[in-house]
Amino acid sequence: MTTVLRIDSSASTKTSISRALTDRIVARFDGADVITRDLSQPLPQIDETWVNARAKAPADRTDDEASALALSDTLIAELKAADTIVIGLPVYNFGVPAALKAWIDLIARAGVTFAYTADGPKGLLDGKRVILAVASGGTEVGSGWDFATGYMRHVLGFIGITEVEIVAADRLALGAEASIKAANDAIDALKIAA
Ligand SMILES: Cc1cc2nc3c(=O)[nH]c(=O)nc-3n(C[C@H](O)[C@H](O)[C@H](O)COP(=O)(O)O)c2cc1C
Repeated sequence: MTTVLRIDSSASTKTSISRALTDRIVARFDGADVITRDLSQPLPQIDETWVNARAKAPADRTDDEASALALSDTLIAELKAADTIVIGLPVYNFGVPAALKAWIDLIARAGVTFAYTADGPKGLLDGKRVILAVASGGTEVGSGWDFATGYMRHVLGFIGITEVEIVAADRLALGAEASIKAANDAIDALKIAA
């Protein structure tokens, strides 16, 4: 049984193009178990208690420190449970929405999703596929102003996820219909294991 983790990060819940794309992608995974994480319900930012807690062995954490890490543990469990992660990524101010960055800060944990080794950092997640569903107004994916998709590829690779595909409805302001059609065609062409 395939498990899909669907993460939406658009602040818009009704008119969002990236959500329409993640809807369509998830529909391709017919019969899969789907875990949904909607970041329009904001996650907390990491704070000093969190930063100190994550550097301690579990047995050495105070109750406050343990509870500071509880949500991070839940988000990492969702990630570990998934074979495929579908991420709705609207370009905000040339980068990823702060809501998605908050998720990344909570799931990138030394000793849990990556490790420092004698050969340098090593991602601890493997065998996972990510599909990024990107929407943008004017920024072309892959251009010098796109600080979103390269960052996502890098940070996902850092935790061990190197199979990253992008479907993009980018430059919507220059012609939404054609842009959305191109993204939908790319979604319909995604290879889905039987
Ligand atoms: C706060 C904010 C910042 C934005 N910044 C950019 C940007 O830097 N580059 C761009 O191409 N579009 C930008 N846009 C436009 C969005 O990327 C575009 O509306 C996209 O469709 C948003 O995704 P959504 O439809 O899933 O909400 C911005 C939109 C918002 C709301």
